[in-house]
Order: sequence, then structure tokens, then C-alpha cells
Amino acid sequence: MNILIRKEKLNGKTFEKVLALKVTKKQEKFVASNLMSLAQTGLYHEHARSLVILNNDEPVGFMTLDWEEEERTVGLWRRMIDAKHQGKGYGKDALKVLIKQVKQEKKFDLMPLSLVSENIIAYELYQSFGFKKTGEIADLEEIMVLPLNESEQPEN
Ligand SMILES: CC(C)(COP(=O)(O)OP(=O)(O)OC[C@H]1O[C@@H](n2cnc3c(N)ncnc32)[C@H](O)[C@@H]1OP(=O)(O)O)[C@@H](O)C(=O)NCCC(=O)NCCS
Repeated sequence: MNILIRKEKLNGKTFEKVLALKVTKKQEKFVASNLMSLAQTGLYHEHARSLVILNNDEPVGFMTLDWEEEERTVGLWRRMIDAKHQGKGYGKDALKVLIKQVKQEKKFDLMPLSLVSENIIAYELYQSFGFKKTGEIADLEEIMVLPLNESEQPEN
């Protein structure tokens, strides 16, 4: 498993493969489609980043980041693993690699995210990495944050 961080537009081949990645019907309320996420990363290109999660060079998932260097925050904007590839550890590994990479950048203090409260699998996954609920709600989603410069963090 490796993670590819794209700061430019995806190439045609990768773009189509990312568009083909889908969650289950029941999970569609948890995350926007990759088509929407790709459109939004284009619209907000100054601070949006796309990440393709690859297994043996094949896309298995997709994430987007809200990259706010001036505010020293890097938001986990969208996260998804294709339904065929869920439950194999890719979501967890991708988060682990991503958190390590952003810590190495030393540009950020905080990683916020938001999630639908009934998304228990995602909630437990984030909690295992040290994300905590702030009690705030934005667009009907609960906010969680991970401090990035604390020395004591759960081992994952
Ligand atoms: C949430 C999501 C990204 C997790 O990715 P994943 O690759 O399936 O998860 P992993 O295989 O890495 O498993 C991570 C943990 O979740 C658990 N898990 C994953 N799928 C599960 C399932 N269907 N039922 C119960 N537990 C599950 C795993 O057991 C693991 O727990 P552990 O660390 O205690 O062993 C993925 O399920 C997904 O894309 N869901 C739909 C979209 C979504 O909800 N996105 C997040 C928006 S907040």
C-alpha cells in the first residue's frame, strides 16, 4: 500500500479510475461522490489537495484535504475506500501514512474533520488515531480534531 499525493490535476487514466471508486448505497449519505469531490478540488484549487490511495499502483480509495497553511490546519475533507476494498486495512493505513506525512511537513497544528454521527465505523477509526469530538456541528456533521504537535498520541 502506498499513498500518492497529487498537488496538480490527476492524469486522464487516474481520473477515470478515481471516478469509478464507489461506496455502498447505504454509505452514500456519509461522503460526497468522487465526481463532486474532484469538482470541488478544482473549484477550491488554491487550498484543496487530492490524495489517491493506491494498492500495487491501483486506486482503491480517495481523500481530499483542505490545506490551510496560514491557519496551520490541514482538514481531512473527504475520505472513502471503494466498497470492494473496504475492511482490508486500507482506510486505516492511509490515515496512518497521511498523519505521518503532514506531521513531517511541520506546517500544521491541527487536523479537523467532520462526520455524520451515525457513521460509527469512521468515528471509531478516527478515535483510535486520537481525534476527539469538539461538540461543534457544521452542516449537520460533528466536528473532530487531531492535534498534530502533541508528543503523546495513540500508536496505530
Ligand atoms: C470509513 C472507511 C474509509 C474505512 O476504510 P476501510 O478500509 O474500510 O477500513 P479498514 O479496513 O482500514 O478498517 C478500519 C477499522 O474499521 C473496522 N471496520 C471496517 N469496516 C468495517 C465493517 N464493515 N464493520 C465493522 N468494522 C469495520 C475495522 O475492523 C478496523 O477496526 P480495527 O482497527 O479495530 O481493526 C470506509 O469504510 C469507507 O469508505 N466508508 C464509506 C465512506 C465513509 O464513511 N467515509 C468516511 C466519512 S467520515
